[in-house]
Amino acid sequence: MAVRRILRMGHPMVARRAAPVPEAELGSERLQALVQDLWDTMRAHDGAGLAAPQIGVGLRVVVFAVEANPRYPEAEPVPATVLVNPGWEPLDNELEEGWEGCLSLPGLRGLVPRHRRIRYWGLDPEGRPLEREVAGFHARVVQHELDHLDGILYPQRMRDLSAFGFEEELERRWEAEREEGRAQVQAVVARPGG
Ligand code: NI
Repeated sequence: MAVRRILRMGHPMVARRAAPVPEAELGSERLQALVQDLWDTMRAHDGAGLAAPQIGVGLRVVVFAVEANPRYPEAEPVPATVLVNPGWEPLDNELEEGWEGCLSLPGLRGLVPRHRRIRYWGLDPEGRPLEREVAGFHARVVQHELDHLDGILYPQRMRDLSAFGFEEELERRWEAEREEGRAQVQAVVARPGG
């Protein structure tokens, strides 16, 4: 329905805790319109996910989807999902570092520790419950998006800000490292974030 403006880090809306969607709104046209705007805005920016506060709506709604891309064979696809009033918990204590980006921090990337295996749950826009156990990139995307609902952006999760920078500069660095044969798998960094 509409590609909305994405609010960037520093705007108070992306630093604020969002409110639950009231039960009476489940299945409503207003909620459907919000979800459609999230999809339209996310896809217009080639993102992996988007949370309602990023378009200025203080409700606990996120969307995410990652299609298989032959350019990034290491990045697993994630099914297109809408979550209303979601929650999550880690399945164990294992953390994994991975590169993230965010449409609210355009052009930047950072290395972020996340739980490797999680369970998450939520409602679809009609109010039907959904629950999944996931790992790896899928788990990372969910933790990133659900953080947005609590006003948390990925730099707040980083342990080492020397691994935070502009994508163009980082890619030059990795290119040089690859040529020196010190390459790590950096495919995820090439993916836009949510
Ligand atoms: Ni984000």
